[in-house]
Amino acid sequence: MKIVSTVEELRHALPFNQTIGFVPTMGYLHEGHMSLVENARRENDFVVMSIFVNPTQFGPNEDLDRYPRDFKRDEKLAREAGVDLLFYPVTETMYPIDMARVSIRKGADVLCGASRPGHFDGVLTIVSKLFNLVQPTRAYFGLKDAQQVALIEGYVRDYFVPVEIRRCPIIREETGLAKSSRNVYLSDVEKEEASQIFKALRAAKETLEAGLEIEEVKRQLTVRLNEIPNSQIDYVELVDYPTLGIASKDSDELLLAVAVQFERARLIDNVIWKKG
Ligand code: PAF
Repeated sequence: MKIVSTVEELRHALPFNQTIGFVPTMGYLHEGHMSLVENARRENDFVVMSIFVNPTQFGPNEDLDRYPRDFKRDEKLAREAGVDLLFYPVTETMYPIDMARVSIRKGADVLCGASRPGHFDGVLTIVSKLFNLVQPTRAYFGLKDAQQVALIEGYVRDYFVPVEIRRCPIIREETGLAKSSRNVYLSDVEKEEASQIFKALRAAKETLEAGLEIEEVKRQLTVRLNEIPNSQIDYVELVDYPTLGIASKDSDELLLAVAVQFERARLIDNVIWKKG
């Protein structure tokens, strides 16, 4: 595995005439990232991973400074997973003059976007820069960030970006807790409590399948999440997927998504229900 940090080194190290699978990350890798690499490995000749904690997707009071980082460990995991090229730039490389950024028109004012204004503009800005640099054939994103996936897909369609976006399933602990770099902020007790989130989501999906009204599904899910000790609900939402618009009886796919704040970690999780 080759490690590069400048644009010139990256361009030089990219292969010609081979399919490139790209896994963009912010590091502190876990099994979720590893499964993205596995998919990329299977479907492409060459696998590129980026590790960059992108400052523009963090709000002023968020965890940019304390976001977990461990490059040595990440490097080892990436190598073992079969990454061919690891791009590890510094902020000045990714934001040389910071004159232009991507701005989202639809779908960024709900769910995480409502609680984290500007977050998805930051995500789309960095993803767009990385796509321009890596020019991947396919790019791999985990559905834990289902809103992020939908917005990236929308961006790729609107800007005719020649990349195939591959949605990958959420990887969970045995308890059901979705794998996340931010789980490191949770105590053992909180981890146990946080595993209730997925159980509640799964139960809510069953009620949805059984035909319960959307508002009632949300209400019951809210009651259940409110029972989790030492936590506070940020949002409980049901939206059409992947438009992220209002869910209706005609929606083919529904995203049931929640965010729950623990003392030091804000956790997100979701389930997608496909009709039929
Ligand atoms: O999902 C993430 O880790 C980040 O939002 C991404 C896509 C790497 C952009 O910084």
